[in-house]
Amino acid sequence: MKILITGGTGFIGRKLVAHLKVQHQVVVLSRQGSHAYHLLGHDVQVIDSLDRLDHLNDIDVVINLAGEPIAQGRWNPARKQQLCDSRWLLTEQLVDLIKLSITPPKALLSASAIGWYGRQDDKPLDEECDHPSLEFTHQLCNRWESLALAASSEQTRVCILRIGLVLGLDGGALPKMLPPYRVGLGGPMGEGRQVVSWIHIQDLVRAWLYLLEHDDCQGIYNGTAPTPVNNREFSQQLAKSLKRPHLMRIPAWALQLMMGEAADLLLTGQRVVPKRLQDAGFHFSFPALPQALSNLLDRPPSNQ
Ligand SMILES: NC(=O)c1ccc[n+]([C@@H]2O[C@H](COP(=O)([O-])OP(=O)(O)OC[C@H]3O[C@@H](n4cnc5c(N)ncnc54)[C@H](OP(=O)(O)O)[C@@H]3O)[C@@H](O)[C@H]2O)c1
Repeated sequence: MKILITGGTGFIGRKLVAHLKVQHQVVVLSRQGSHAYHLLGHDVQVIDSLDRLDHLNDIDVVINLAGEPIAQGRWNPARKQQLCDSRWLLTEQLVDLIKLSITPPKALLSASAIGWYGRQDDKPLDEECDHPSLEFTHQLCNRWESLALAASSEQTRVCILRIGLVLGLDGGALPKMLPPYRVGLGGPMGEGRQVVSWIHIQDLVRAWLYLLEHDDCQGIYNGTAPTPVNNREFSQQLAKSLKRPHLMRIPAWALQLMMGEAADLLLTGQRVVPKRLQDAGFHFSFPALPQALSNLLDRPPSNQ
């Protein structure tokens, strides 16, 4: 198949491209020019813009991951607009091209995030949840999803993966969390009761491949492991995996001072469960946190 992927140079995209290019012809949309070849290899094709395309007739599947990093920078109005525009405008452009195609891609697989649910209490949430908390992350994800779902037709199925906290060593939150834990200064954030819905990077890549390969899959899927934990448990497990003490606590006010509203990403949470992936027959290699962390932290980074 010929697969067009946006965000293919990112933390998730690089892992996914490495798998996809074994069997498929991969085209990556990237602003990074020749650096994208350095990251991904010369056996992918890199394009720098969709502007010169009139259709996607020769593309079989589109995978849409691109977006400004959500946890980077303070969420002032300009940054919020960047976070939204980098996802919404590109998704809109992809969907327009799909609609202009005579032989459109048979699938659009588009990223979203568990931020769609907003801050929630401890109750498990599957894809049927109809009471999201209507804060910024919900607004961002909700429009991102609606724009992608507009590509849906008899010829094109759309799958949305609401991704949780991705655990890997080559990007995402985990490498940033490790330094204080390694010196014994790690600990829960705020009250520590907020739920962390995480997923091992290998399972996330396998979930994307599963949605790609199963033509009967469409609609919203939660991309999280089946056993979310609260922040205190997460922190305890991380310290234990590193064989370090777990004595500190990071007060909410300190995070709010450093990050402003973006501290919500750390201080609030939601217990998200992957009901539709599991119902569709997907099996997790790392369903529980201790195994996921020991797989990541007991081996050199190149093996992740
Ligand atoms: N990692 C997580 O824990 C997590 C959790 C939930 C949801 N997600 C979502 O999953 C997607 C992929 O995540 P990731 O961790 O792989 O992200 P990442 O490492 O930050 O990579 C995102 C990619 O998007 C592209 N991009 C960034 N800003 C852009 C802009 N302004 N315009 C166009 N393209 C832009 C970049 O590609 P180029 O520089 O090559 O153009 C970059 O490689 C993101 O949309 C993210 O929100 C991730």
